[in-house]
Amino acid sequence: MNILSLNDVSISFNNRKILNYINLEIKSACILTISGKSGSGKTTLLSVLSGLLKPDSGKVFFKGKDIYKWADFRRSGYRNKKIGFIYQSFNLLPDYSIYQNIIYPGILNYSSSSIKEHADYLIKYLDIDNIKDQLPSTVSGGEKQRASIARAMINSPEVILADEPTGNLDADTSKSIFSLFKDIHKKYGIAIIITTHDNYIIKNSDFHFTLVNGSIVKKR
Ligand SMILES: Nc1ncnc2c1ncn2[C@@H]1O[C@H](COP(=O)(O)OP(=O)(O)OP(=O)(O)O)[C@@H](O)[C@H]1O
Ligand SMILES: [Mg+2]
Repeated sequence: MNILSLNDVSISFNNRKILNYINLEIKSACILTISGKSGSGKTTLLSVLSGLLKPDSGKVFFKGKDIYKWADFRRSGYRNKKIGFIYQSFNLLPDYSIYQNIIYPGILNYSSSSIKEHADYLIKYLDIDNIKDQLPSTVSGGEKQRASIARAMINSPEVILADEPTGNLDADTSKSIFSLFKDIHKKYGIAIIITTHDNYIIKNSDFHFTLVNGSIVKKR
């Protein structure tokens, strides 16, 4: 079954076509990598999938439902609960501790005791127990990225969208972050879509596409 699909999706900025009639089917429980040179539209594509950016034309389906037909509040709920987003530059709130950053997206959805229980579980699972009370500025890049993964997992999403998640990390740390993705994928059976240039990650994903001149080209 497809968890997400794009049907003839196009989007332009300043009369430049960034996505040009993209068709893409994403199976549930797969790891999909998307590469493409800087400016090719990778972040744009993830924003469209996450419900944040309505395409100029075309449709985006989540489990067969057209997400841009939904009212704004429903699409916000989709973004918050069904999608976990991981940013290249981490996007952690600088004045909040790692722990507070992780529970923040969950506080509206769950009771405080259940959210704390889940956060404690994720913090142990991602091995960041020792830094949970620190501010983001005082922890390493790999630790920040593990905190972002915990934050993305707090609402038990069905899809993780990761935008160049290892772009700022050294090769060994990148490998360990990717093995966490693999583990999460196996354990929770969720789809993980990663934009990346990292050959190791590309090689070890189930499917691989590149974005070239607004089109998506299947490589594997
Ligand atoms: N909101 C916007 N307004 C105008 N132009 C935009 C906007 N968002 C993206 N663009 C342009 O669209 C193109 C694709 O941007 P996008 O961020 O998707 O590329 P990318 O493949 O993620 O690049 P990178 O590898 O550098 O992150 C770029 O030329 C960018 O300047
Ligand atoms: Mg980008």
